[in-house]
Amino acid sequence: ATFETHSDRVKLSLPTGETAEILLHGATVISWKAGGEEKLWLSEKAVLDGSKAVRGGIPLVFPVFGKTTSGPTSALPQHGFARVSKWEVLGKSSASATSICVDFGLGSENVIVDFRKQWPFDFGLIYSVTLTPMSLETKLLVRNEGNQAFDFQTLFHTYLRVADVGNVKVLGLKGVTYRDKTQGGAEIKEEPEAVEVKGEIDRMYVQAPGEVQVEESGKTVYTVTRTEDVKDVVVWNPWENASKNMGDFGPETGYRNMICVEAGTVSEWNTLEPQTVWEGGVTVSL
Ligand code: BG6
Repeated sequence: ATFETHSDRVKLSLPTGETAEILLHGATVISWKAGGEEKLWLSEKAVLDGSKAVRGGIPLVFPVFGKTTSGPTSALPQHGFARVSKWEVLGKSSASATSICVDFGLGSENVIVDFRKQWPFDFGLIYSVTLTPMSLETKLLVRNEGNQAFDFQTLFHTYLRVADVGNVKVLGLKGVTYRDKTQGGAEIKEEPEAVEVKGEIDRMYVQAPGEVQVEESGKTVYTVTRTEDVKDVVVWNPWENASKNMGDFGPETGYRNMICVEAGTVSEWNTLEPQTVWEGGVTVSL
C-alpha cells in the first residue's frame, strides 16, 4: 500500500485498487473508491481551494457541532474550525499489503489567530484515516495540552453516496430518541424499523446503538460502526429546497445521490481535563 503527497492533498492506494484522497484543507476526505466505484458524495460545486468548508466527502466537525449561542464556542463558525483549517501530514503510521493508515495533525498553534482568540485553549488533534479493501476508518485523538479543562464536540460528517436516496433505509435506530432540527429540536422516539428519506431530514439520534446499516433497494451498502465514546448519529439530507439554498451544492438533483450518516459525540459536551486525551473513531464498511 502506498501514499502520495501532493501540494494540497494526500492519496492512499492499495494494491487491490482501492483509493482514498484527503485534502489538507480540513483534513477532509474527498474521495473513497472501492470496487471501481466512488463511495462518498462530493458536490460538483464543492470549493476545494481552502476558502470554505468542503460540501461533501467527510468534513470533520470540531470543537462544536452546529452553532451555539453561549460559551466559548459561540463565536466560532458553524461546525467549528477543524474543517476550515489547514492540517499537517504527520505521515504513514501503518501500512501492509491490505491496509494503510495516514495521520494528520492540527494544533492550537496552526489555527488562524481569530479562531485562537475565539477558542483560547491549547489542544492537539491527530486524525487518522485507514483504508482497507472493504472499509474506511476515521479516528480522532483530542489532547488537552493546556492547564485548563475545555468542552468540545466532534463529528465525522460523512456524505455517503447512494444511487437514489428514495430507495434507502437506515437501520439500527429503532427505539432511539432523536432531536429533530426540522421541528425546532423536538425530541421524538424512533418507532419504525427503518429511517426512510422522503423529504428534508435533520435528526440527531442520541446515544444510538454501536452499529447502523444503510440499505439500498434491500441490500446493505454501508455498515457504520463506532467506538464507545462516539455516542450519537446524525442523519441528514437537505432535500430539494434546502440544497437549492446552498451556493456550493450541485447538481441540483444531487441530494438524491447522498445521505449523511454522521457519527459523533454532539448531544452534550465532553469535558477534557488538562493533559488528558479523548479518542474516538468510526468505520464505514462495505
Ligand atoms: C448537519 C446538520 O450535520 O450539517 C445540519 O445537522 C446542517 O443542520 C448540515 O445543515 C450542513 O451544515 P453545513 O454547515 O455544512 O452547511
